[in-house]
Amino acid sequence: VSPRTVRVALLGYGCVGSSVDRLLTDRADEIEETTGLRLRVVRALVRDLRKPRPFQPPPGVLTTDFGAICEDASIDVVAEVMGGLTPTEDYFRALLAAGKPVVTANKQLLARRGRELARAAELARLPVRFEAAVCGAVPVVRILCEALPPRSVRRIVGVVNGTTNYLLTRMEHGRALDDALDEARDLGYAESDARDDLNGSDAAAKMALLASTAFGTPASLDQVEFSGIADISPRDLEEARRAGRRVRLVGEAAVDDRAVVVRVAPTELDEHHELARVPAAFNEVALEGDGFGRLTLRGPGAGGPETASAVVGDLLAIAAGRATSHLARLGGAA
Ligand SMILES: NC(=O)c1ccc[n+]([C@@H]2O[C@H](COP(=O)([O-])OP(=O)(O)OC[C@H]3O[C@@H](n4cnc5c(N)ncnc54)[C@H](OP(=O)(O)O)[C@@H]3O)[C@@H](O)[C@H]2O)c1
Repeated sequence: VSPRTVRVALLGYGCVGSSVDRLLTDRADEIEETTGLRLRVVRALVRDLRKPRPFQPPPGVLTTDFGAICEDASIDVVAEVMGGLTPTEDYFRALLAAGKPVVTANKQLLARRGRELARAAELARLPVRFEAAVCGAVPVVRILCEALPPRSVRRIVGVVNGTTNYLLTRMEHGRALDDALDEARDLGYAESDARDDLNGSDAAAKMALLASTAFGTPASLDQVEFSGIADISPRDLEEARRAGRRVRLVGEAAVDDRAVVVRVAPTELDEHHELARVPAAFNEVALEGDGFGRLTLRGPGAGGPETASAVVGDLLAIAAGRATSHLARLGGAA
């Protein structure tokens, strides 16, 4: 049987976008043999066509013209991996209006505008998925949406920012924050603007998305009480370490009959606590709930190839035509 070709466009061809193209190219044969689908990146939106790329696409793929993607009826599905709020939200809506399913890695956009975008996707009757927006390669959104009974989770606790976890583990061995941040950027964990990581808003956005997905009650970023790691010094961390303690940026979300509470804060833990033992750029999420008790997921939470694996998982589900829309959970559907 000849494979069905699925034409993919990317909004963004940076750390994550170029890794998506590389993964789809390198694994094309395995993907085709397993799924019968041949996913090809045919267009990718960037700002600067001349910038050197870690993985060079064929000529003609990169474009600075969003219309070349949105108005191209032959494009089957789009992955939004450019980040930011504007013009990203407008692009997102335009893609839905043009009938294109979307996969996104953009936690900040969804944590602020998830409910409205869920409504737009529902009206357009299109699946939208966002596995890559939460915990990198760890398929926690899929588990919440597809593996567990709806609204069975009562509490979520975890380390959901791989960059800050990496920074804290380096700083407790005496590295200055700025030096550790340079290392994290070189490794592709931290974005050039790391403010959202340092002030806790990245982790807060992810916890808001997990809470909305799990509890069936939309929780937006402005409901999250959060603080970050910007004011923590290597000395504080070294002292804690000598006393058998570790500081980790811990997120917690809980629901009871009355309300959803979501918070993120640097937290001192015993060195043997499971969250104290999450390695460098990894994430860990524990889901607690009715029936299953406690379920723990751990894996790479940042980095281009790691995040690309989640994007490709969502692209394949949509391409296969059997995808439920995970975004519907952010609109309150469960
Ligand atoms: N990196 C990670 O570990 C990671 C993990 C999970 C989720 N994410 C999320 O994934 C998304 C992308 O992250 P990234 O690390 O890949 O970022 P990045 O390396 O900075 O790449 C962003 C890409 O988007 C393009 N772009 C940005 N704004 C644009 C605009 N207005 N018009 C056209 N193109 C635009 C850039 O074009 P140029 O190349 O021409 O500048 C670049 O190719 C973000 O939402 C991020 O939060 C990243």
